[in-house]
Amino acid sequence: MTGHEGLFIAFEGGDGAGKSTQVRLLAEALRARGREVLVTRQPGGTELGAAIRELVLHGDHVSPRAEVLLFAADKAHHVDLVIRPALAAGDVVLTDRYTDSSVAYQGAGRDLGAPEVHDLQMWAVDSLVPDLTVVVDVSAEEGRRRRGDVHDRLEAEADPFHDAIRQHFLSMAAGHPDRYLVLDGTRPPDQLHDAVLERLEAMGVLAP
Ligand code: TYD
Repeated sequence: MTGHEGLFIAFEGGDGAGKSTQVRLLAEALRARGREVLVTRQPGGTELGAAIRELVLHGDHVSPRAEVLLFAADKAHHVDLVIRPALAAGDVVLTDRYTDSSVAYQGAGRDLGAPEVHDLQMWAVDSLVPDLTVVVDVSAEEGRRRRGDVHDRLEAEADPFHDAIRQHFLSMAAGHPDRYLVLDGTRPPDQLHDAVLERLEAMGVLAP
């Protein structure tokens, strides 16, 4: 049903939405059920990815098209070296952000054309699509409040940028309800976690 041996789940959402907590809770729950789980994040997750992460999030100005290509290069390398081998071994892979982040941040946020960025991302990852993408949704204001004062290059953008990203995540999810789960990020983390488990049970990939 999934097109590969393992199970591939991406967590997406705005900065400060609480994705990382959900990744951690799901990893713990799956490991407690005896599954092998690989947790990774993008950008990052490989040595090259860590270097790209530093350049693109914490370096000086990067031209928008170069930003798109750097995020795509990070994913291409990461999928080849880390994600595909783990899926081929039958593991569960949880990634904190994936291709939709680029479609939303670079395509919609930077206004570079979501379809073009989507096509480039799909080329970079050789069309590896997650079995499920969980979108943890919060408003731009709420995300900013939760992030506090520490900002990387993208987080530092104003609210309209983050609003455009949010709307784009929601519209991607609305277009493919079978492959997405949208969660209201203002609900308590354990309730969100339960909703993720329920969805995995409904997909038949997790025993109730
Ligand atoms: P990170 O510190 O991982 O933030 P978070 O904890 O919110 O996930 O930073 C990742 C940043 O990079 C985040 O602002 C989103 C951005 N990003 C893109 O713009 N394009 C991409 O393809 C990816 C993967 C991330």
